[in-house]
Amino acid sequence: MDPAVRSIDLRKTYGVGSAAVTALDGVSFALAPGTVAALLGPSGSGKSTLIKALGFVSPADAGEVYFAGRLVVKDGAALADLASLRRRHLGFVFQKANLTSFLTARENVEIACEFGGKPDGRRRARALLEYLDVAGRERAYPEMLSGGEQQRVAIARALANEPSLILADEPTAALDSVRSRTVMELFRKVAHERGAAVLVVTHDHRALDVFDHLYEMEDGRLRPYHPAAATAAAPPPA
Ligand SMILES: Nc1ncnc2c1ncn2[C@@H]1O[C@H](COP(=O)(O)OP(=O)(O)O)[C@@H](O)[C@H]1O
Ligand SMILES: [Mg+2]
Repeated sequence: MDPAVRSIDLRKTYGVGSAAVTALDGVSFALAPGTVAALLGPSGSGKSTLIKALGFVSPADAGEVYFAGRLVVKDGAALADLASLRRRHLGFVFQKANLTSFLTARENVEIACEFGGKPDGRRRARALLEYLDVAGRERAYPEMLSGGEQQRVAIARALANEPSLILADEPTAALDSVRSRTVMELFRKVAHERGAAVLVVTHDHRALDVFDHLYEMEDGRLRPYHPAAATAAAPPPA
């Protein structure tokens, strides 16, 4: 099976001359359908730049992106209708839920179903809210929801078009560790039950066991992350 998304040697530099910053320095990466991966790394290491390149928001200067086995971006040039790919096959979740304030939780998801061309938006929205365990809040407006509830509604909204790839950039940065873990577990459920590939940028090292794969970035380079030090320091199981 082809990876949901694959990049080869992505490179991106912001600015020119002495002000130039290398945000991506040869990133090759692949994510299989049905898997959830974490992307760690310090601030400024290139995580958001990679998310934007893989999500067809802002292309890299050089390198290739394959989507479901098909080459769709090469050296910054689109070889496919990227806006259509994004609308039909991708889901995004960000640090702030950014729900529409004058729509209820259900309406926020329903409108995304309609935008994605899915029939029966109201029923689908209800089912998605139930799937994310916020069905009881379907009539609430965003300001009435807790941060964790807002993020679950935002994930429901991201699932509206049945995406094959979900990109989440620090989705739990505003949540406490218990709610953060709940959201991470929902991403795993979405990957394992719905077959989506999910990439989550996170700083929360307490929930890393949730993920199938761990990566970290540093200075624009990506490598597998091994929480070896943490494991070695952990006490033996009782
Ligand atoms: N639009 C931009 N213009 C100039 N520099 C940028 C821009 N976006 C990001 N950068 C720089 O690129 C590097 C990587 O940024 P980013 O991908 O946002 O890192 P992260 O998400 O890991 O914090 C940083 O040095 C950042 O300052
Ligand atoms: Mg970032």
